[in-house]
Amino acid sequence: MGPSPTRREKAPPLPDGRLNMNPPDLTFWQLIAEDLRTHNRDILAQGFWILFWHRFGNWRMSVRFKPARMVLTAIYRTMYRVGQWTCGIKLPYTVQVGRRVKLEHFGGMILVPRCIGNDVTVRQNTTMGIASERDLNARPVLEDEVDIGAGAVLLGNCVIGRGSVIGANAVVTKSVEPYSVMVGVPAICIRTRHPAGSEQADHCAEPEPEAPLP
Ligand SMILES: CC(C)(COP(=O)(O)OP(=O)(O)OC[C@H]1O[C@@H](n2cnc3c(N)ncnc32)[C@H](O)[C@@H]1OP(=O)(O)O)[C@@H](O)C(=O)NCCC(=O)NCCS
Repeated sequence: MGPSPTRREKAPPLPDGRLNMNPPDLTFWQLIAEDLRTHNRDILAQGFWILFWHRFGNWRMSVRFKPARMVLTAIYRTMYRVGQWTCGIKLPYTVQVGRRVKLEHFGGMILVPRCIGNDVTVRQNTTMGIASERDLNARPVLEDEVDIGAGAVLLGNCVIGRGSVIGANAVVTKSVEPYSVMVGVPAICIRTRHPAGSEQADHCAEPEPEAPLP
């Protein structure tokens, strides 16, 4: 993770939505097939369909023939709304979403961070977005392998470090070190996950008390 932004720092501009921001290493249909596998091949999973229209919304931006793109845009905008009404999940196509992202369950999900990395799981009733109207660009960044518990709220200019777990109903407004397990309001780190083979220091551990002087 690079240097973490502070809440006072002005966030950089958001993507303007003119580019196809789907992961570049797969075709549209390969991506859809991977999303379906990620959702346990459940063709009726709400998360799969929300991602389908999100990928479609991005893919249409690579269509150069303008009249065709206008038709695709009308389809995208309609299905984006239908997705919100029927699944209770809001995920605009301007949010960059990586591969194998799983939207587990559905309902009450307002997912408007800056970007979501690869292998991220997001559960129901989660909110990601601005902390206040003072900075409309200040949105969370979710690095790879992050796991977001039900009811979690991630706000403002923060980076959720790789492999972190955000507990159910936690509220996060500051950057989180990689592999942290965060719970509570405001969220605190209760422990560090150690990925297999890693010798990472436990940054959540209390510092050892110094030995008393003789
Ligand atoms: C955060 C989480 C991953 C921690 O799991 P864990 O590492 O096994 O931690 P433990 O269950 O051993 O709990 C450690 C401590 O944190 C507390 N804690 C755990 N989750 C918490 C939460 N979401 N909010 C507040 N405190 C929490 C426990 O009560 C315990 O406190 P104690 O030491 O005073 O007894 C897990 O509790 C969680 O919230 N997962 C979200 C999963 C989810 O949303 N499931 C919904 C499925 S539909």
